Amino acid sequence: MRDVMKADLEALLAIEEDLFQSEAWSKDVFESEFALLGVSRVYKVLENEGEIVGYFGLAIIDGVVDITTIAVTSHHQRHGLGTMMMNEILEISKQRGAQKIMLEVKPENLAAITLYQKFGFEVIGLRRNYYGPSKDALTMQRLVTHE
Ligand SMILES: CC(C)(COP(=O)(O)OP(=O)(O)OC[C@H]1O[C@@H](n2cnc3c(N)ncnc32)[C@H](O)[C@@H]1OP(=O)(O)O)[C@@H](O)C(=O)NCCC(=O)NCCS
Repeated sequence: MRDVMKADLEALLAIEEDLFQSEAWSKDVFESEFALLGVSRVYKVLENEGEIVGYFGLAIIDGVVDITTIAVTSHHQRHGLGTMMMNEILEISKQRGAQKIMLEVKPENLAAITLYQKFGFEVIGLRRNYYGPSKDALTMQRLVTHE
């Protein structure tokens, strides 16, 4: 796992297209997120033999970590990579002294919801039309404990 680099952009766009279709992030969205790296954003990729197989993004503002994206390429899903990235997200959240982690997810995305529930996330609300007309999102949250 390593920090994202500008050179990863094309690979990320191809994965987005494959996984998210009409809701895939555009180059502009990635670039505006990457412009905040080191300010309020953390983006990491998982690389296997030179190929990006997963990535996640975080917006960290006022003690709240927002998971902006998390994805594993279709060929590499269900091999624990999502779990690996969630563990890293927890670790980063603790290191930054965050109080909570939040995310939005489509109600029908059972794979992601199951993963988040395994990490102690709970549904705290519904955001109507979040992904477009009649495309709602569940908001999920998990508190971060600091021992
Ligand atoms: C959600 C996602 C990141 C999970 O990544 P992953 O590497 O497949 O996850 P893991 O292998 O670590 O799975 C961990 C657990 O999550 C649950 N899970 C993962 N995929 C699942 C599926 N298709 N159906 C049901 N549960 C699933 C299981 O409980 C799994 O544990 P198990 O394999 O021991 O049963 C991946 O499915 C993905 O990239 N999906 C497309 C993009 C996406 O929807 N991102 C989230 C946007 S909010």
